[in-house]
Amino acid sequence: MGKTPPEVDEYIKAHRSDFESELFELLKIPSVSADSRHDSDTARAADWVADQFTRIGFETEQIQTEGHPIVLARSSPIENAPTTMVYGHYDVQPPDPLDEWISPPFEPTVRDGDVYARGATDDKGQMLTHIKSAEAWMNACGSLPVNLIYVIEGEEEVGSENLEKFIVSDPDQLACDCVVISDTSQFGPGQPAITYGLRGIAYYELRLFGPAQDLHSGTFGGAVTNPANALNQILSQLIDTDGKIQVPGFYDEVIPLTTREREGFQALSFSEQRFQDLVGVDATSGESGFSTYERRCARPSFDVNGIWGGYQGEGAKTVLPAKASAKFSFRLVPNQNPKEITKNLEAFLHTLIPPGIRMELVDLHGAPGVVVPLDSPYIEASARAIEHGFGTSPVYIREGGSIPIVTTFASRLGAESLLLGWGQNDDNMHSPNEKFSLADYHRGIRTSACLWAELAHGA
Ligand code: BES
Ligand code: ZN
Repeated sequence: MGKTPPEVDEYIKAHRSDFESELFELLKIPSVSADSRHDSDTARAADWVADQFTRIGFETEQIQTEGHPIVLARSSPIENAPTTMVYGHYDVQPPDPLDEWISPPFEPTVRDGDVYARGATDDKGQMLTHIKSAEAWMNACGSLPVNLIYVIEGEEEVGSENLEKFIVSDPDQLACDCVVISDTSQFGPGQPAITYGLRGIAYYELRLFGPAQDLHSGTFGGAVTNPANALNQILSQLIDTDGKIQVPGFYDEVIPLTTREREGFQALSFSEQRFQDLVGVDATSGESGFSTYERRCARPSFDVNGIWGGYQGEGAKTVLPAKASAKFSFRLVPNQNPKEITKNLEAFLHTLIPPGIRMELVDLHGAPGVVVPLDSPYIEASARAIEHGFGTSPVYIREGGSIPIVTTFASRLGAESLLLGWGQNDDNMHSPNEKFSLADYHRGIRTSACLWAELAHGA
């Protein structure tokens, strides 16, 4: 079996502190893709990533898109070796609410062995493990045992639409045997995981318009439809108290969970109490008939992500607002089609709109859910690499988040994704005080370096 050459392991050991300071450099760049005020920072992060590849002699280019650039890099071709793509993202979520951060989001700070910064785990830290492993091979051995193509994009957090267009426009240039992605989590500390399922997403903004301008709620309230009242009524009809989504046809394509898979979930050491402690609640809720683990990973869900309208300043203002809006999303499971959901949702909303209200529905982005096959030599190679890097074999899990482009890799490139997460569930992805364990960062680098050897020899 392919093992990491000792000089590669030596290089990794000797460069621990360089690898950390480089991660901190990248974490200092506020590459928030959703916020155009950060466009120059996002470009700077792309340059930083591209420079990492040129330094190790990879053929590197930046693909300019209508949005943020895609960094594309290739190792020097070797014949008769498999080709692996590495996918990751250098963009991050907005850091708000800022005042809840213990240390500022773009000033990486180490506390108790974790580095705190926006993007630490999602995805700069995890993504960088696969660049540092390539650096170790190149600088220690002068070559890699596999052909590597890196696709590091800047729009994962906003739906990956430009990457999708790029792949569809010329899939042949990205031909590969499999795709390695580290943008997920371990099952728990010391329990590395291979994720075989991710949920999809369908994300919307709903805008409701009522009277021509804000009105006195005493003079007009009760006679003029209040868009904020209407919004509440409409949103509350999208899901019932059993956690069942009410959009007609929503569950039509959902594949029921098999008894075997549900038994597999039960065999995972998921603790309801630890989960409640993690999020700071004293009870959980969701779709009836399903466990907490199933609800968050393997069943659809509905969440209001933001809601606004009317007076939000200090004290009371008796106003009937002219408009109200919400951002909301459904998490989808494999086989549900986000476009179909949009059609059904729009038709359903029209039946719910009360008189005196005009509606606008904006489809912000959508992506289907995925399940990847586990009976493959690539998965076996990954499991061996994880054993080497983490000292224990992985568990096989599904997760509730989405990585929109994974389906496109399967459908357009015929390549399955290996979702090898180094993060932890309490890493605060998308929340204040995002963090990443530096020990897991180094384990990830060791695993990645070993994976190139395993994929070359064993898969
Ligand atoms: N790293 C996450 C995906 C993820 C989260 C996987 C949790 C497994 C567990 C990724 O960066 C992400 O946040 N994706 C977005 C995609 C969306 C904006 C289209 C998500 O899931 O909200
Ligand atoms: Zn994310």
